[in-house]
Amino acid sequence: MLEALFRPRSVAVVGASQDRTKIGNIIVRNILASGYRGKIYPINPRAEEVEGLRCFPSVTAVGAGAVDLAVIAVPATAVLEVARDCGKAGVKVLVVISAGFRETGKEGLAKEQELVSICREHGMRLLGPNCVGVTDTHAPLNASFAAGFPHQGEIAFISQSGAMLVAILDWSLKENIGFSQFVSMGNKADLNETDLIEAAANDPNTKVILCYLEDIKEGQRFLEVAEQVTLEKPVVVLKSGVSEAGAKAASSHTGALAGSNVAYDTAFRQVGVIRVDTMRELFDLAVVFARQPVPRGKKVAIVTNAGGAGIVAADSVERQGLEMARFDRETLEELRNQLPPASNIFNPVDVLGDARRDRYEAALNQVLGDDNTDGVIVITCPTAVSDPEGVAQTMIELHARFPHKPMLAVLMGGESMAGGLKLLTQAGIPCFTFPELAVGALAGLVRYGSIKTRPPREETPVYPDVRPEEVKRILERVRQERRRSLLSSEGAAVAAAYGIKVAPIQLAQRAAEAVAIAAELGYPVVLKVASPDILHKTDIGGVRVGLKTPDEIRQAFWEIMESAARHFPQANLFGVEVQKMCPRGVELIVGMTRDLQFGPLIAFGLGGVYVNLLKDAAFRLAWGLGSREAESMIRETKAYDLLRGFRGEKPADLKAVVEVVGRVAQLVSDFPDLVEMDINPVFAYPQGAVAVDVKMTIR
Ligand code: COA
Repeated sequence: MLEALFRPRSVAVVGASQDRTKIGNIIVRNILASGYRGKIYPINPRAEEVEGLRCFPSVTAVGAGAVDLAVIAVPATAVLEVARDCGKAGVKVLVVISAGFRETGKEGLAKEQELVSICREHGMRLLGPNCVGVTDTHAPLNASFAAGFPHQGEIAFISQSGAMLVAILDWSLKENIGFSQFVSMGNKADLNETDLIEAAANDPNTKVILCYLEDIKEGQRFLEVAEQVTLEKPVVVLKSGVSEAGAKAASSHTGALAGSNVAYDTAFRQVGVIRVDTMRELFDLAVVFARQPVPRGKKVAIVTNAGGAGIVAADSVERQGLEMARFDRETLEELRNQLPPASNIFNPVDVLGDARRDRYEAALNQVLGDDNTDGVIVITCPTAVSDPEGVAQTMIELHARFPHKPMLAVLMGGESMAGGLKLLTQAGIPCFTFPELAVGALAGLVRYGSIKTRPPREETPVYPDVRPEEVKRILERVRQERRRSLLSSEGAAVAAAYGIKVAPIQLAQRAAEAVAIAAELGYPVVLKVASPDILHKTDIGGVRVGLKTPDEIRQAFWEIMESAARHFPQANLFGVEVQKMCPRGVELIVGMTRDLQFGPLIAFGLGGVYVNLLKDAAFRLAWGLGSREAESMIRETKAYDLLRGFRGEKPADLKAVVEVVGRVAQLVSDFPDLVEMDINPVFAYPQGAVAVDVKMTIR
């Protein structure tokens, strides 16, 4: 797939100019300089030849079916015409460099849409517009206007920002980092990150996929593709900006808890994409993934010639979720025999400041040969007798002897380390200036190991005993009344229709009715103001608990109505809702907010009025949220400590809580119109769990 983008048999450059300062000319020269072996056709009605190549007035003039890839570098006003010409000539993929589309406003957007429809009509794929182009170092092909061609390597870099791409390219040349593919996506009018990740996954020369993204276009497809790809190759993403769904003000607790970034974080985590926060991390991980094996486990050995640096590294190992290896007795004995008495033979192994390569060799040989070591970090600080190049040679030899255990180097110094740095980099042993960076990179490798071996995704649960017809009826009525939020009693009925146990609740328009309902439900009861316009009822005195007599109910009724009218004079007051008082259980929240890209995002955590203060919440997409994931999400929270029985309390019914989460996932998956939902609180008891207050908002 996308062969014609990365390995076309022929390329046309439309807008190829004889003027060497123009982008069209630079692209022709870049293609030539990259050693591209296919045919190159400069296209320009005003030129006979460009850079020694015969020029054609149009792509159709080259001949039908003669061009696989057309790179377009003419002003935006001419692009649509050129695209039609390409379509007629049977071009397979367009790379549109030109700016002046969606990014410029309404007219530009219309032009972009027209460009996409021309491509669809002719069965062409489109990269861009507004992009730098594409390079594949193995093809080889440099169909871009970047200054320079990356070194050959095994890292694919897919970028939504052209500027970021060219900056990284320049930097990588200095750092000697190689790439397989370099793709600038521009406005992503057609081809987007999912297509390009898929292409990189299918590229035999790519081992690691890096992305710089500002958004994701087709969330659902991204999830499905990324889930598969990450089993084969690591995908590391630097994602900037906030999601659209998060950017809008949330009206539910769950929406507020989720904030702007949680949907992306959760989605990435669920499909095994590694998200990083900095460019540094992005490339540190790229280099270790490309050059080092994935370790079997997370036990790290450290060999150092400086005690302090060893301790800093050991602290970092713990902080980053790895473990210090504990060596076997034989290993310790050998280390004791082979190293000077003042050395520390326990991990971190300190070979002392006067160590030359022989001591590193003895230590590395032992710790790498020990089954308790999954990976090793070797630290060298410059001392008067240190021999960074000799140590580097030793490391290279030992890495060859133990190729399944990752080896990372920390060269703590400057100029004096340059020789060692060069040797190690060439040999594929990643080098870092500080221990914590090496530990972070090793932690990334360990994490990828668990991503590769993760259990398959569960299906969103399907409980057969649900009544979708009933939910449909309720939502229809709410919509007819032109409301967006459901009353608590309606929310409770929806939840109940999906098999969630709810505390009985009924609407009363008058005080007498409230008294009658209370008699039916049984005392004591709670009264809550019923208005689609009042979401947070407690705040305005709209909730009265523990009412034990008809008199108390009548009085509470009038007080609530009066207080609601005072706080919200415009609000539509339906009356009150009468609910049977529930005994207190562990107070939980189970909620949902719907992300534009990734669909329903389920939250679980400590419930009650302090939800947004305590912020104890874990998230999962409803996509793939079966019982196993629901339980793991519950275990991530502090609420779980309470559920297990805090300070001698009886443990709560975890299975019932897992079921509430699963049933909510099923409900929101079945009803895309539900955009937000809070069940807060859910009371969990030693036996069972009951939804006490259910808020829902529809589209
Ligand atoms: N077919 C073929 N050639 C055509 C043509 C057509 N329909 N229309 C114009 N041309 C020729 C021009 O005559 C010119 O050749 P010449 O020098 O021989 O006269 C050449 O194409 C380029 O056109 P020109 O008008 O000189 O444009 P330009 O080179 O100054 O700029 C772009 C063209 C695409 C570079 C510019 O419009 C642009 O979009 N720049 C921004 C690019 C960018 O930043 N992209 C995003 C990166 S993140």
